[in-house]
Amino acid sequence: MLNYRSGESSFSDTPYFCPPFNSSSDVSTNVTSLQNFNRHSFGSDFVWGTATAAYQIEGAVDRDGRTPCVWDTFSRQKGKIKTGETADVACEFYDRYVSDLHLHKEMGFNAFRFSLSWSRILPDGVGPTQGGRINEAGLRFYDQLIDQCLALGITPWITLYHWDLPQALENLGGWPNRKIVDWFADFADVCTKAFGHKVKHWIILNEPLAFSILGYFTGQHAPGRRSLRNLLPVIHHTTLAQAEGGRIVRRNVPDAQVGTTFSCSPIDPFTPKDQAAAVRVDALMNRLFIEPSLGLGYPKELSFLSGIAKKVAKPGDMERLAFDFDFIGLQHYFRAVVEQSYFMPYIWAKDVSPLRRNVSTLTEMGWEVYPESMYRVIKQFSQYEGIKKIYITESGAAFYDVVERGVVNDVARVTYHQNYIEQVLRAKQEGIPVEGYFAWTFLDNFEWAEGFRPRFGLVHVDFRTQQRIVKASGRWFQQLLTAEQPVAIN
Ligand code: FCB
Repeated sequence: MLNYRSGESSFSDTPYFCPPFNSSSDVSTNVTSLQNFNRHSFGSDFVWGTATAAYQIEGAVDRDGRTPCVWDTFSRQKGKIKTGETADVACEFYDRYVSDLHLHKEMGFNAFRFSLSWSRILPDGVGPTQGGRINEAGLRFYDQLIDQCLALGITPWITLYHWDLPQALENLGGWPNRKIVDWFADFADVCTKAFGHKVKHWIILNEPLAFSILGYFTGQHAPGRRSLRNLLPVIHHTTLAQAEGGRIVRRNVPDAQVGTTFSCSPIDPFTPKDQAAAVRVDALMNRLFIEPSLGLGYPKELSFLSGIAKKVAKPGDMERLAFDFDFIGLQHYFRAVVEQSYFMPYIWAKDVSPLRRNVSTLTEMGWEVYPESMYRVIKQFSQYEGIKKIYITESGAAFYDVVERGVVNDVARVTYHQNYIEQVLRAKQEGIPVEGYFAWTFLDNFEWAEGFRPRFGLVHVDFRTQQRIVKASGRWFQQLLTAEQPVAIN
């Protein structure tokens, strides 16, 4: 399979870049080219946020009526999480959201993206139309979180689904069961009715490719199922739920901006003879979930997808896959280089790892740092006629962080965001409607199958004491976002 989430060099003993300690708390002494741009370069409507996900930060997994999700179950199984950890406690965001949001405000961000834990709101998984309960305490938590955002002048952006399927629904078959489309529609209905009067930015799914393929085909993520048989049903039900969710938000919150997110990477062939392989991987990684939503159907370049129309879809489904989203969220971290492979069923291609290509600019996830790829994905997606607006709903990097005398001088992460954001600006200056950037992520947190070890946060979390330290990268954003004057052009 394409090893697109965890690179082979993850957790190498030699971190990509371990900056020397600098006693100055002024990051501008370490970061030279901040002067290229600041918030004014992007215009006053540009959205600056951080992105988070419920399971990765909240903790409180058995509090106030929340029932288990697939990640609770998965992380308890031996060998599933590299570090053997669970997110039972995580960042204790459930209890600390007030002070955390003050920190978020201090860094200058005007938007906060978070997801709703499905099993906190609907403990039975199913909603009231199918006999399930609504957990008022769960709704209350998010209501207070939203109010806190609004009180601080931070716009809440809600993601309905960021991978934490209620275990009760997985027990009924999970995403391979077609009923998931109705279960999800009910969940979307309850959430939008509860919060739609206050929240006007809604994201339906977080990276459908990741949870469908990693969760049900390769088994690296929860619920850890590996089966060829599941693949087409999971893809199709996800795509249906994506559009159905959009319709529910539109119906219940007519003045909302509705979008959904996609993981994306420019795909380069390793050698000229790998061109066809690159086309197939592009269809899988970049086109599979967006094209049906645009009314273009499933990409023809992947012949196995024709099985959906033949064996999985019901009459009328193909029309139901389309939804007119107001925006799409692109989540971009790295580029991919691929080659032809006869051992990889369906896709006949595999990843050529950065190590094999002698690329040394890697993050701790083993992902290649390649800023221009940000520009390239924006450009690629902007070519679809049906896309009205693009937000970068995630980008960020895990590096080995050192706390010294209370300071985390994460120069590599500053450089990452600076260079990737510069490429967003490049696209924007060409007239592409890219309207926001959400850094992944606010707080160091539970990085799924990798556990707590990779740290992506702008704020360091000591997981023993829950102490927070704003890293140099957080302060860099603060300078960028609170700058009074536009950058002088020489
Ligand atoms: C994205 C996920 C997010 C986080 C980052 C590093 O694919 O949406 O939850 O894991 O990767």
